[in-house]
Amino acid sequence: MSMLSEVRVLTVHHWTGRLFSFTTTRDPSFRFQSGQFTMIGLMVEGKPLLRAYSLASSSFAPELEFLSIKVPDGPLTSRLRLVQPGDTLLVGRKPSGTLLIDNVLPGRQLFLLATGTGIAPFMSLIRDPGTYERFERVVLVHGCRLVAELAYRDLIVRTLPRDELMGETIARQLRYLPVVTREAFAHRGRLPALLESEQLAREAGVAPVDPMLDRFMLCGSPAMLRDTQAVLRKWSVDEGNMSRPGRYVIERAFVDK
Ligand code: A2P
Repeated sequence: MSMLSEVRVLTVHHWTGRLFSFTTTRDPSFRFQSGQFTMIGLMVEGKPLLRAYSLASSSFAPELEFLSIKVPDGPLTSRLRLVQPGDTLLVGRKPSGTLLIDNVLPGRQLFLLATGTGIAPFMSLIRDPGTYERFERVVLVHGCRLVAELAYRDLIVRTLPRDELMGETIARQLRYLPVVTREAFAHRGRLPALLESEQLAREAGVAPVDPMLDRFMLCGSPAMLRDTQAVLRKWSVDEGNMSRPGRYVIERAFVDK
């Protein structure tokens, strides 16, 4: 059990029948970098049942936040979806992951491209002052099937730009483009096609993508990762990792989830 710590659930929010998030207490000794994930879970029949989850909370926040889909009959999420404030969860003490600002080369615009729960690590990155020190423009693009699945939209649009400490920086440097595929909405389409057609930059209200000057971080469904990577490779944008920073990084931890 020494690799795991126990935390208490503080709040639970069900965004839709498929999507929920929750906050927990944070062990004072638990440190992570914006963009990382850790194992979280529950004791089931005397054993820990764990899955990798990105930390959606700011690395400076006193509590932890996680965003989850509800996998029908999923061993963990069918139990996790029922958690209530006061319940105990397990959190791995060793966060990891490749979506680190240090793994991308310095550049002009940083595109954070997410589908579904893939927005979670970016919620941490957009609340980190270091992100804005490295990039003059940060563009968060979130693709979902339905408008109701655009988790954190209100927080991004209304709350963060008014934040006492970071509001001014966020209002000046962050642009947010929510995109929906399965119902009417101001912005529609799939991320790889939008990126390739230049529609993405136009709709986000930022300078056209320059594959050599701009940087990319990807997190989402395996299909989105594959197709977006194909666009980036076509543009000869090289991938970064823990040993060598590059022009884009991708989180593979959730690919088989
Ligand atoms: P679509 O509605 O066309 O399937 P999910 O909830 O299944 O993870 O999907 C989240 C979002 O990712 C949806 O908008 C979905 O679009 C989109 N998506 C699915 N496949 C791809 C892909 N290959 N590239 C980009 N986005 C995709």
